[in-house]
Amino acid sequence: MALRPLTSADAHDITAGCQDPETARWTTVPVPYDRAHAEEWVAQHAPTEEWWSNPTWAVTVVPSDRWSGSLDLRPDGEAGAEVGYLIAPWARGHGHAARALRLACSWAFTALGLQVVTWHAYAGNDASLRTARRAGFRVPDHVFRSYGAQRGERRDAWIGTLTPDDLAFGGRAHEARAAYVGPRLTRRELMVLSQLARGQSNRAIAAELGISENTVKNHVRSILQKLQSKSRAEAVVLGLRHGLVTLP
Ligand SMILES: CC(C)(COP(=O)(O)OP(=O)(O)OC[C@H]1O[C@@H](n2cnc3c(N)ncnc32)[C@H](O)[C@@H]1OP(=O)(O)O)[C@@H](O)C(=O)NCCC(=O)NCCS
Repeated sequence: MALRPLTSADAHDITAGCQDPETARWTTVPVPYDRAHAEEWVAQHAPTEEWWSNPTWAVTVVPSDRWSGSLDLRPDGEAGAEVGYLIAPWARGHGHAARALRLACSWAFTALGLQVVTWHAYAGNDASLRTARRAGFRVPDHVFRSYGAQRGERRDAWIGTLTPDDLAFGGRAHEARAAYVGPRLTRRELMVLSQLARGQSNRAIAAELGISENTVKNHVRSILQKLQSKSRAEAVVLGLRHGLVTLP
């Protein structure tokens, strides 16, 4: 994973990334999102003098230089900044957001002299919550009613903070993950496993996730293989043991 400045050549990938329904659901990107939005956004956030008032990066997955996500900091002028990020659907499932967060926050604590980075996500955005905690953010188990705003509506949110000390603590958590040698399921497989834990049939899972039954079968086959299980029930038990799934 690497961070680099945005360029106008990113507009195509940004358009594709921001048209993703999950991005629309959990961020404030315009809906519907078209190429003009991407071009305008790049023009606003490309590196100029203004860049420092809202440092913004493209997330790439080395060795590729392709735009695969965005991360930005909104400094409040009082040694704090709010962070925002997204990872494109094609690059999800590998923890890139947590690494990007740590890198950008580490830079902000030294280069900008920040004392705190704040984070919020709409309640229910579990992937973002796990990302923030993985990066070292302290996020209490509390839902702040109507804290977030999205396209003219208020939404409940989780709030977290990261200080330089938290970043040091998060670093250890990060190493622990790198040392974890258990099975690594993709995001989709985790969603299917979670449905298996609810005892759902392939047909019900397909309807719930908006995919075909054949795709569900492929995911289940891959899950059984990765967890070395002979049955769906055994996969759920092993998933619980590895902390990949919780019981409903
Ligand atoms: C949130 C987001 C940036 C995370 O991207 P990522 O780095 O690819 O994240 P991963 O898929 O590697 O998942 C990160 C963690 O969340 C978990 N996770 C992923 N999808 C999940 C889901 N649907 N439900 C529960 N947990 C999930 C992963 O298991 C992982 O947990 P771990 O760190 O404890 O192992 C990405 O999903 C995204 O762009 N979502 C849409 C936009 C968005 O929500 N932006 C943030 C707004 S606050």
